[in-house]
Amino acid sequence: MKPVTTGIIGLGTVGCGTVNVLHRNVDEISRRAGRRIVVGAAAVRDRNRARDCPMQGIQITTDPVDIVTDPKIDIVVELMGGEEPARQLILQAIANGKHVITANKALIALHGNEIFRAAHNQGVTVAFEAAVGGGIPIIKVLREGLAANRINWLAGIINGTTNFILTDMRENGNEFAEGLRLAQQLGYAEADPGFDIDGIDAAHKLTILASIAFGIPLNFQQTYVEGIRDITCNDVLYAEELGYRIKHLGVARRTDQGVELRVHPCLLPASRLMASVNGVMNAIVVEGDAVGHTLHYGVGAGAEATASAVVADLVDVVRALTSDPGNRVPHLAFQADAIKNLPIVPMSEVECAFYLRLQVTDQSGVLADVTRILGDENISIKSIIQKSKTAGSATVPIIILTYPTRERSMDRALDLLQALRTISGSIMRIRVEVLR
Ligand code: NAP
Ligand code: HSE
Repeated sequence: MKPVTTGIIGLGTVGCGTVNVLHRNVDEISRRAGRRIVVGAAAVRDRNRARDCPMQGIQITTDPVDIVTDPKIDIVVELMGGEEPARQLILQAIANGKHVITANKALIALHGNEIFRAAHNQGVTVAFEAAVGGGIPIIKVLREGLAANRINWLAGIINGTTNFILTDMRENGNEFAEGLRLAQQLGYAEADPGFDIDGIDAAHKLTILASIAFGIPLNFQQTYVEGIRDITCNDVLYAEELGYRIKHLGVARRTDQGVELRVHPCLLPASRLMASVNGVMNAIVVEGDAVGHTLHYGVGAGAEATASAVVADLVDVVRALTSDPGNRVPHLAFQADAIKNLPIVPMSEVECAFYLRLQVTDQSGVLADVTRILGDENISIKSIIQKSKTAGSATVPIIILTYPTRERSMDRALDLLQALRTISGSIMRIRVEVLR
């Protein structure tokens, strides 16, 4: 049968990984897809840059419009990243009747509703397995493997860079900046690493997962986001002493009030499998009413792990080329006319236990003030530890673990605590998740 010709926009980390995997596994991939998949053309910014992949037979352009308008190209693979011009290019490819594969979670989270509508109307597929969890086929799991279930919640370590940094803090005692430098060197971080460390990348991914899990539109703007910039090696150490590990999690949970959508650092009990997910590894727990808990684990970033997901999408799209568009797996798992809005629960209404780290003046009455303020908000303390004073310091760290309380009660208590003259610096607050 005639080979299928793809055009790749972007030959960076993931683009080169994709060409390498297609090249090395050409026979296995053809046996699965039923046809050979060839890369006919690729767009890059700098045509003189050396590429870490075989370039024979690939026509290079610096204008991505050449790819989306080329009649010889059946499938466009967008691996350039960013919102624009990626959005315009994908819409143009769809308008030209081409199927699209992308690893661009930002684009899907922010513009997926528009892109899927256009693809649906045009009868083409937009596949995005590589957008979440690197090499973990979590989109396929949620869309197909768990299609029998009412999904109650999911929670995941879905950013490899932050997990790499937190692991580096725990295992090597490196502070934040050093871990980030290493993650960038290894090709895990986004072009702007602020997306990783401030939680935005994880929020993009959570937005996508929640939409597919619950059959709701993509709701990035309503996702609560916190990153890991303020976490210190001491927090990692204190959490460890209390029997917890600090992980950056995305949590989507169905409640009676609506859907919780939140991304933030968490203390996880060290006994949970998720607490042992280290380095660039990602993991997602999904709880469905029929299947119970399932855990999906794998490499969350990097050239070939991500290429594994891109190429799997290519095989799926090639297999479906001759199928009736109405019978294909819907983009967001639920039929386009069955996607329903559910209210997103405001963060102030979410209930969690908390870890607090306060730097207090070492004098009598300070602890009494702290416990009174928490008590006035009905926040019950589970444990409290005063660490020793370091030489030359007039203050000591106090670590508090609370029982679950509403976020708004904790916000009010933190405002009052922060105003005490005996507390110096910012109070660190990290939520505790038990994954039940
Ligand atoms: P990257 O290494 O920065 O590569 C981007 C590529 O796009 C480069 O080859 C660049 O060309 C090309 N490019 C950018 N703007 C262009 C333009 N206007 N015209 C033509 N070419 C252009 O990025 P990446 O890490 O591979 O990430 C690509 C996408 O995959 C992003 O959406 C990212 O979020 C997603 N993703 C990445 C990973 C990962 O582990 N890296 C994992 C999952 C998903 P030059 O090389 O000439 O500069
Ligand atoms: N920057 C992302 C991460 C790449 O670190 O997880 C994979 O999506």
